Amino acid sequence: MNIREAIQARHSVRQFLDQPIGEAEAEKLQKIIKLCNEESALHFQLVQNDPECFNTFLAHYGKFRNANHYIAVIGHKRIKDLDETAGYFGQRIVLEAQMLGLNTCWVAGTYGKGKCKAEVLDGEKLVCVIAVGYGENDGVPHKSKPMEKLCTVPKADMPAWFKNGMLAAVLAPTALNQQRFRIEMDGDHAVISAQKFPMAKIDMGIVRYNFEAASGHKCLYKNAGI
Ligand SMILES: Cc1cc2nc3c(=O)[nH]c(=O)nc-3n(C[C@H](O)[C@H](O)[C@H](O)COP(=O)(O)O)c2cc1C
Repeated sequence: MNIREAIQARHSVRQFLDQPIGEAEAEKLQKIIKLCNEESALHFQLVQNDPECFNTFLAHYGKFRNANHYIAVIGHKRIKDLDETAGYFGQRIVLEAQMLGLNTCWVAGTYGKGKCKAEVLDGEKLVCVIAVGYGENDGVPHKSKPMEKLCTVPKADMPAWFKNGMLAAVLAPTALNQQRFRIEMDGDHAVISAQKFPMAKIDMGIVRYNFEAASGHKCLYKNAGI
């Protein structure tokens, strides 16, 4: 599976098999996490075999089952654009997990924040977690806004790279499936902005990563409007 196929195949999965992550897969996950931590200065951590973090009323209500492994998304509060950076690098890990045959779900609300076993150092913030494991199912495609609502460039005027990027952006996970972002074309790159909304910055980083991975072109982050 290549990265474009991973973008297509990824859907949020909340019910997992009661099964440890394979040794080889865990090792590869740790490798990409280490790489992302080095590049971003974030503090992603893989926590395995911990049923407690998702053993809460909200998690059960949210239909999570056997969510025993997760990636804690953590970073120092002084990191510029912490939430956006967390989304960008977190999505890189999510797509890598998909390519390893694992399923994932970004989770900012329906887990036990206080029960998370990851190490949060002084000055750091636990942004959210990403449940990871072998799904009972592969999830289902989300309902999506039409591309015209997410971008003002008419489809007929889109170069192939931009169209590929937009198709991947539309498939990206966003909190509550809000998709409150806009992507415009600016020469040979794209520019993304988002409406003010809780978790909009994490979403924007996620969408930006999907766009860049599929298009091979930069998608810059426009701070204005947030
Ligand atoms: C930043 C962020 C936070 C999220 N938080 C939760 C959550 O707390 N609980 C949950 O069940 N799903 C959560 N999700 C998953 C979204 O509901 C899901 O990505 C969206 O509905 C689109 O569906 P898809 O991921 O299957 O494409 C979150 C997603 C993102 C990007």
